[in-house]
Amino acid sequence: MPIPIILDCDPGHDDAVAILLAVASPKIDLRAVTTCFGNCALEDATRNALQILDVAGAPEVPVAAGASGPLSGDQALGNYVHGASGLDGPELPPPSRAADPQGAVALMASVLDAADEAVTLVVTGPMTNAAQLLRDRPDLISSITEVIFMGGSTERGNHTPSAEFNTYADPEALDEVLQTGLPVRMVGLNLTHQALATQAVVDRMRAMPHQVGQTCAAWMGFFGDSYHRVWEFDAPPVHDPCTIAALIDPEVIEWRDAFLAVELDGTWTRGETVVDLHGRYADRRPNARVALTLDVQRFWSLVFDALDRLGARGD
Ligand code: BDR
Ligand code: CA
Repeated sequence: MPIPIILDCDPGHDDAVAILLAVASPKIDLRAVTTCFGNCALEDATRNALQILDVAGAPEVPVAAGASGPLSGDQALGNYVHGASGLDGPELPPPSRAADPQGAVALMASVLDAADEAVTLVVTGPMTNAAQLLRDRPDLISSITEVIFMGGSTERGNHTPSAEFNTYADPEALDEVLQTGLPVRMVGLNLTHQALATQAVVDRMRAMPHQVGQTCAAWMGFFGDSYHRVWEFDAPPVHDPCTIAALIDPEVIEWRDAFLAVELDGTWTRGETVVDLHGRYADRRPNARVALTLDVQRFWSLVFDALDRLGARGD
């Protein structure tokens, strides 16, 4: 049985690869894509999600727009990485349809209400929509298998020296989700910085005999230039699809159970995730599974297979 998921995202070049992976895999049943502010303003993220699903040949997947800002605090945007549109690079046709007007939280709730089995919530942007859903409909906790999110880190940050962008953008939302006691898996920068779109990876995409491969190669080109300009990386870390890869292939990531918290008040450290890998808080039980090591070859094989599968469908 494929794993039913809702993918809540802020596309975003790496969110785009996550969407393609989810659409392509027979092991995933993508029930909805919901959008959040983050890499760009909400309306840009929503248009990008619709365009990415068109690239994937999946215009039937419902899309709805969610939060335009965090539960509290100021809005942070990632246009300095993803460009003015949030998905700069190759020119894409306008979306073939409009988003579902009911909005992200209502769409998530209706998918969960309608499901016969529990659904996995994958979050690859700020945690705002998930927190809002659980505020509005706490009865739906039992309908969610787990929340698996890209965000945080066991080590360094990227938006600030200590905080990763998604957890910086809405730390209160992540804190609320952690307080619900739902099973949580964190795929942080310490993991995703192993998923580098090297020149060999981009060349392999560009050599694919279909438009999906070329489009993905062009996205990685723009993303790589940003990572070089902002952080002097030689190749960009393709963060978000690591979450979907973990669902498709349970062996692709090694995990550790640990206590996870997010800093809400630090003068310099707001949004930093605190991961107790060495059991320093004797009174805190593990409340999350934290991604540690990626099987890099296996990860890229999943991505290449997905692109080829989508390319073959489009022929
Ligand atoms: C995260 O922030 C965004 O730039 C990416 O889409 C990813 O979700 C990495 O910090
Ligand atoms: Ca993202």
